[in-house]
Amino acid sequence: MTANLSAPITHTATTTQTGAPVASDEHSLTAGADGATALHDRYLVEKLAQFNRERIPERIVHAKGGGAFGTFTVTGDVSRYTRVAAFQPGAQVGTAIRFSSVAGEQGSPDTWRDVRGFATRFYTPEGNLDIVGNNTPVFFIKDGIKFPDFIHSQKRLPGSGLRDADMQWDFWTLSPESAHQVTYLMGDRGLPRSWREMHGFSSHTYLWTNAEGARFWVKYHFRSNQGEHNITNEQAEQLAGADADYYRRDLYEAIAEGNFPSWDLHVQVMPYEDAKTYRFNPFDLTKVWPHADYPLVEVGRFELNRNPENFFAEIEQITLSPANVVPGHDISPDKMLMARVFSYPDAQRYRVGTNFNEVPVNRPISPVNNYSQDGSLRHGYKPAAAPVYAPNSFGGPVADPARAAEGSWEFDGALVRTAATLHSEDSDFGQAGTLYREVYDDAAKARFLETITGAVSGVQNPGIKERAIQYWTNVDAELGAKLRANLGAAAVSDAEAANKIG
Ligand code: HEM
Repeated sequence: MTANLSAPITHTATTTQTGAPVASDEHSLTAGADGATALHDRYLVEKLAQFNRERIPERIVHAKGGGAFGTFTVTGDVSRYTRVAAFQPGAQVGTAIRFSSVAGEQGSPDTWRDVRGFATRFYTPEGNLDIVGNNTPVFFIKDGIKFPDFIHSQKRLPGSGLRDADMQWDFWTLSPESAHQVTYLMGDRGLPRSWREMHGFSSHTYLWTNAEGARFWVKYHFRSNQGEHNITNEQAEQLAGADADYYRRDLYEAIAEGNFPSWDLHVQVMPYEDAKTYRFNPFDLTKVWPHADYPLVEVGRFELNRNPENFFAEIEQITLSPANVVPGHDISPDKMLMARVFSYPDAQRYRVGTNFNEVPVNRPISPVNNYSQDGSLRHGYKPAAAPVYAPNSFGGPVADPARAAEGSWEFDGALVRTAATLHSEDSDFGQAGTLYREVYDDAAKARFLETITGAVSGVQNPGIKERAIQYWTNVDAELGAKLRANLGAAAVSDAEAANKIG
């Protein structure tokens, strides 16, 4: 609060929610000064009842976060790849962003080691485009059917309500596709110094279509103009105690001081046909596309220049979703992405309410025309004479069949439950090993070893601990040997390791 408390203040009259003036902010209606409280003190009843309903469910994941608003300005020319209106030369649109941590609850410390959410919205003239990504270019799993199990393993034990290293490492080691993301998580990127100083990634591959209908596969990269800076385990631990809202405060204060953070948006572009023969599955969310194969192409600058006026209304109630696509940007055959397209609006109908898209922060700047109606807390409605069904003879909105081919791709036909692909380099550990060996320098490698040693030493079950050593040995044999030595664990055979579980 920055108000000058010595200046004279004029007050408006307190009213009930229905606008009637009330007699007291501080005294209930009682039978005598110290007597029983009257149930017909309608303002007291309304005030207490409204208070009890101030909370909505926190997000099932990414509950702790913060956000801001800004502007996206096109600086490159990607019109040959996409017709997205917001990405055409000369375009400038409003944006929103919400940063978050994945596993912690609403009040959890910002600096716990975790992947950070990087969820952006572009308010485009053809609808809201949301790129809901992370500060890492890959993910732990590659099929949405595993997501609830993955999250259960990272959250809390049902009995004690405690987080549990055995659960985490049991899931990861039984899901070797997690190795690349866990290598990021246990590396320096698992502890950013601030949200401003981290990069953002769509992680998924999306489909772009240009004005002529030509298609391209793309991955989005937001490169921080503040640079990438991280903190140590010790700093993170100290900050978790000293200021649980360290990132939220940093972002808010930077913007309030006019120190506007920005990211340069680039894309990697893969010609449509390349996907069929590329050496690994380009829709596999546990893989990055080497920049040598698909270099970054400049799109524009994403700047944050406005803090929320009301955190709940604008940040808690924002409903970012990969299902929010616009002409020129669509979904790819990534199984995770397809599961997310269902999951987010479903979560948001429950978390915010059926008509969540009518909350001001979620309203697109383009008109909304369809036959949806009613539902809890509906605000918008059409004139009484407007038709309520399609097709109709009375001039209601009509869908455009010319758009039928947009966002389409071929698939091989049969319904199956398998992850088998035709690509030659689909190994779970290959890119994780490359990240450790070729991207991390010696100091980063040493910090990485220290972090995984600490994390795995929290595992109680000897079989899971042994499997964790094997997991890191598969990433890099020398790393695995160092971890084994640090943990003081003797080498065992696979059969012996299996016997240790339980
Ligand atoms: C939030 C589901 C994978 C990034 C959420 C929410 C759900 C969810 C239900 C809460 C939405 C809300 O209440 O508003 C899933 C499922 C996944 C998945 C089912 C896998 C199939 C991913 C991946 C990424 C990601 C791969 C990043 C590439 C985020 C972010 C948020 C979020 C950043 C927070 C959005 C915000 O700030 O409001 N996820 N998720 N999720 N998810 Fe996922």
